Amino acid sequence: MAVYLDNAATTPIAPEVVEAMIPVLNNSFGNPSSTHSFGRETKALIETSRRSIAKHLNCQPSEIIFTSGGTEADNMALTSAVVHCGAEHIITSEIEHKAVVCTADALKAQRNVKVSYVKLAKDGTVDLNDLERLLQEDKKAIVSLMHANNEIATLLPLKKVSELCKKYDACFHSDTVQTMGHYPFDLQELGIDYITCAAHKFHGPKGVGFLYVNKNTKSEALIHGGAQERGLRGGTENVYGIVGLAKAMDLAYADLPAHQEHVQGLKSYMISQLKELFEDIEFHGDIRPESSLYTVLNVCFPRTEKAGMLLFTLDLKGIAVSGGSACSSGASVGSHVLTGIDADMTRPNVRFSFSRYTTKEEIDFALEQIRVVFEKTLA
Ligand SMILES: Cc1ncc(COP(=O)(O)O)c(C=O)c1O
Repeated sequence: MAVYLDNAATTPIAPEVVEAMIPVLNNSFGNPSSTHSFGRETKALIETSRRSIAKHLNCQPSEIIFTSGGTEADNMALTSAVVHCGAEHIITSEIEHKAVVCTADALKAQRNVKVSYVKLAKDGTVDLNDLERLLQEDKKAIVSLMHANNEIATLLPLKKVSELCKKYDACFHSDTVQTMGHYPFDLQELGIDYITCAAHKFHGPKGVGFLYVNKNTKSEALIHGGAQERGLRGGTENVYGIVGLAKAMDLAYADLPAHQEHVQGLKSYMISQLKELFEDIEFHGDIRPESSLYTVLNVCFPRTEKAGMLLFTLDLKGIAVSGGSACSSGASVGSHVLTGIDADMTRPNVRFSFSRYTTKEEIDFALEQIRVVFEKTLA
């Protein structure tokens, strides 16, 4: 049996999404920028997808800019805020995704902007008083704080942060890559300037996503070279990807409460079973359902001599999990998120992440393999 519990890295594409993409791959090859009928046909597919996405998020279609995924959208949001909106101060946290951390570093080096890191609680919760203190500085600010952390699942109260940013006339960008398709969004209500999306996190195709830019906020092209996406993102559009993204979002929101209940049920079950298996077990991040992304569980296992081999051993037993985000798991350095919350790095930390396709049988299988591995290593 092979059990995939690394859905925060990426999710399997839904069969319905593949079905929606196949006719486009087979038949709709026109360049969307061409004015003839072949071009108009693919252009229409893009615009229908854009309208459908905007409807789900209660925003205007013109506020959606298709990109190659979350990393590009995060880069574009921060760069736009600095280059086009005059932000001189990036307020962020040390546990943001590297797409934000590295962009902030680059803007600091290239544009001389100030970068401040907000204080975090041990579970990764943002200290809103500290955020307000940072916002009181004179410089025009962009706040970039993710909706849910991709490694430890802790959620940000979006509306509260959005209101704070309004109070101090700051721009607000939230990396919503892990929560898009997993929570409802009402963008008119939330009043955020920029949010980001990657289709592959909710059973859509890889290499496609979008940046939402509030109509009252300015944005700037990161990729120049064409009039596509109203001149904000040059390059021939990933038409099949965009169609797949829209379909994946339809599916995600069609039955959201049922998906949420199913996945949260698996996460709660895994927590309770792990507590029964081990006396000395901890969980990183906030694990309360109301303040934790239900698809992610980061477990701090008891210390064992074979800690360094745990992911490999689980992989051999058919369990695919990770020690951190997929982008950093190949690196020799540990997770910057766990370091950022002062986690005990001498214990094996494993991220389990679930999807609506994960079953209780798979969780039971994983628990049994974990029991066997630790029985041997702790003995
Ligand atoms: C929170 C977060 N932001 C951004 C990204 C990057 O998205 P993409 O892989 O589409 O570039 C990821 C993906 O791992 C993520 O988890």
